[in-house]
Amino acid sequence: MAKSKNENSWPTMEEKIAYLRQLQQEALKGGGEERIKKMHEQGKLTARERLEVLLDDGSFEEIDMLVKHRSHDFGLDKKRILGDGVVTGFGKINGRPVMVFSQDFTVFGGSLSEAHAQKICKIMDIAMKIGVPVIGLNDSGGARIQEGVVSLGGYADIFLRNTLASGVIPQISVVMGPCAGGAVYSPAITDFIFMVRDKSYMFVTGPNVVKTVTHEEVTFEELGGALTHATKSGVCDFVADNDVDCLQKVRKLMSYLPLNNAEEPPYQPPQDEPNRMDPELIHIVPDNPSKPYDVKEVIRRVVDRDSFFEVQELYAQNIVVGFARMNGQSVGIVANQPAVLAGVLDINASIKAARFVRFCDAFNIPIITFVDVPGFLPGTAQEWGGIIKHGAKLLYAYSEATVPKVTVILHKAYGGAYDVMSSKHIRGDFNFAWPSAEIAVMGPKGAAEIIFKREIAQAPDPEKALAEKEKEYREKFANPYLAAERGYVDEVIEPQMTRPKIIRALELLKTKVDRNPPKKHGNIPL
Ligand code: HXC
Repeated sequence: MAKSKNENSWPTMEEKIAYLRQLQQEALKGGGEERIKKMHEQGKLTARERLEVLLDDGSFEEIDMLVKHRSHDFGLDKKRILGDGVVTGFGKINGRPVMVFSQDFTVFGGSLSEAHAQKICKIMDIAMKIGVPVIGLNDSGGARIQEGVVSLGGYADIFLRNTLASGVIPQISVVMGPCAGGAVYSPAITDFIFMVRDKSYMFVTGPNVVKTVTHEEVTFEELGGALTHATKSGVCDFVADNDVDCLQKVRKLMSYLPLNNAEEPPYQPPQDEPNRMDPELIHIVPDNPSKPYDVKEVIRRVVDRDSFFEVQELYAQNIVVGFARMNGQSVGIVANQPAVLAGVLDINASIKAARFVRFCDAFNIPIITFVDVPGFLPGTAQEWGGIIKHGAKLLYAYSEATVPKVTVILHKAYGGAYDVMSSKHIRGDFNFAWPSAEIAVMGPKGAAEIIFKREIAQAPDPEKALAEKEKEYREKFANPYLAAERGYVDEVIEPQMTRPKIIRALELLKTKVDRNPPKKHGNIPL
């Protein structure tokens, strides 16, 4: 505290305020001009600049600005920087509150000390009490090496909170620089991970350790860059081109989510007609069943105009998941993608969709499922990789989901995949089918080959016999009408009516109440 100008009196309020401002100015400098300049040269924003982009103008309120670490080892006692490498507080996104932390790489490389961890835990605790999302901007060299086990303990404190908050408040991780070692496990537990192309990377062990242990030569980017995690591992949900693009994408995601699991998702007045019919939908599914088409075309034509926001766009592209709005109401979309691997369900697609379905269910977001699936992918790679267990995840996720579930079978719904894709049997609320739907145990050719095996083999022209039997099977089973007879499909609808039909179903389902039996928790096949 600065001394009073008048030696004989107590410092005045003005002098106290001046001192406070001096501290605040010092805190705002973080690791200093030089390091800030380096961040900018690398095309990155600083921790505070990032919060300015993320939050509504002027809404950020910082807390714990004056926190310092308490370490003495390795000369740390001479370097005690206000804020200790993380900016924490709260603000608003589109007028709604969020708790935030933003790691400051200019201070000890954003590394996590005991005090740094306590700051993050504090905002997580507040978020849980008041029921608002936590958004963490990660840019850190990991555990503060000089602090040893204390910083490891700090991570564990955060992991525990991430786990307890899971399914209660949305948790978003934005990886904007390094995120290495055990530090990756906080983002991994959160709901969505954003990464910035060429700027952020995540790995449990870096390229040097990899080289020593497995003799593989791999760059930071190849090992754990945004594209690697968006395409190969599925760890990253959203890839951005730069910091600003990334933070704007986070704002967009938040517009679909409720603040907590006791709230409905936000309503946005629609810029689209609820009864809009789209005649183009009639021509999307090709008459030839083996011809692919892009299911995203169906999604875009059905949901509120320009409202589709895809999640994990580059991963397991044989299934499409994302958020959208129907007449202003947030919905989750799950759709088989016939344009990739014929829309087959494999390990990665099952895991991707299962996680998305569970997120929607946890946060009261109705799920709309568009079905065009030839079945599960055969092969040793899939069987040995555990398609039984992983496919079961999707089945489990849909079965336990109690949010409104509306299903539209566009074309193929074959085999176990028919059951899995939000069928009536696992509590689909409204199950529609287009006249092009084919609901059967398997495709006509495979079915004919099995059930008419002997007749075909004994026929003078086996190829002709197969074609005839295939036709017979297609006429009998490859349609929606047997399912409709049983009530497994509530209504066969004309494609252009899909939007109004779904909107009316969702309106009715607004008051839906469904509960699972009381239990500590289920045992999803992990
Ligand atoms: C303390 C650290 C630090 C750390 C970086 N710094 N990481 N200080 N603890 N973990 C400091 C540096 O000393 C340097 O300080 C400043 O931050 C910037 O770092 P640079 O190395 O100059 O930056 P750059 O060249 O961009 O390299 C970034 C980096 C590298 C790749 C992240 O700093 C790095 O490899 N750091 C260590 C990463 C690591 O192994 N962490 C532990 C992971 S294990 P000065 O003063 O020189 O500017 C872990 C366990 C968690 O985290 C367990 C949870 C279960």
